[in-house]
Amino acid sequence: MALKKLVAGNWKMHGLSSDIGEIQAIAEASRQYPQVDVALCVPTILIERAARAVPGFAIGGQDVHHAEKGAHTGCVSAHMMRDAGAVLTIVGHSERREAQRESNDQVKAKAEAALSCGLGVILCVGETLEVREAGDAVASVEAQLDASLPRTLAGEADFAIAYEPIWAIGSGKVPTAAEIGEMHAALRRRLIAAYDDSGGDVRILYGGSVKGSNAAEIFAVANVDGALVGGASLKAADFMPIVAAAAAAG
Ligand code: 13P
Repeated sequence: MALKKLVAGNWKMHGLSSDIGEIQAIAEASRQYPQVDVALCVPTILIERAARAVPGFAIGGQDVHHAEKGAHTGCVSAHMMRDAGAVLTIVGHSERREAQRESNDQVKAKAEAALSCGLGVILCVGETLEVREAGDAVASVEAQLDASLPRTLAGEADFAIAYEPIWAIGSGKVPTAAEIGEMHAALRRRLIAAYDDSGGDVRILYGGSVKGSNAAEIFAVANVDGALVGGASLKAADFMPIVAAAAAAG
């Protein structure tokens, strides 16, 4: 049976208090699509205001520190994020793996910290263009996944993977349906190897230049259980067609 699709927006470093209205518009419009889970991962500073503005709608963060508390200037723990009203967080986004030099070990620790306090996780993996062109994409992303996965999925919090080829992020370039299908099938096999049957229930999202115009084709690919959307999640007018495509794909 197909998993319920999850369409999550990643606002990255976009959004001010004046954009809360856009979050409300997305939350309101999403009610038409109960067959899809919709979430918005907003800048940390907006989480509390956003969560208060859209009760019942899933607001998430974009990163957490792996420790519960301590001397970590400028960092935010999973507990703090939950306390502010978030129900999920992204970890291991390629922009953080690159700019903040986050390792697989750190990503794993962040995912474990989030899950252990009941915060859902979207864990990102993806290859560079160089790796794709060398023909090593699947092996490289499998290795990244294996090294980043939390030890256990026990607990109530939702856990999802996002396959985001780095060269597809913000570039307007998207892998072919066959390339996405090959990668998602490989990731599904790795998840089942790691978690037995529960690995079959982990949603595998695709991310990288998803738009209203290409969403239906992407959602038709086997093992694509939703999308992680950057630029096209900032406005309801761009985001809702993607949610509608997920609803139509079933
Ligand atoms: P774009 O949808 O802007 O390509 O960003 C994808 C992404 O990085 C989502 O996390």
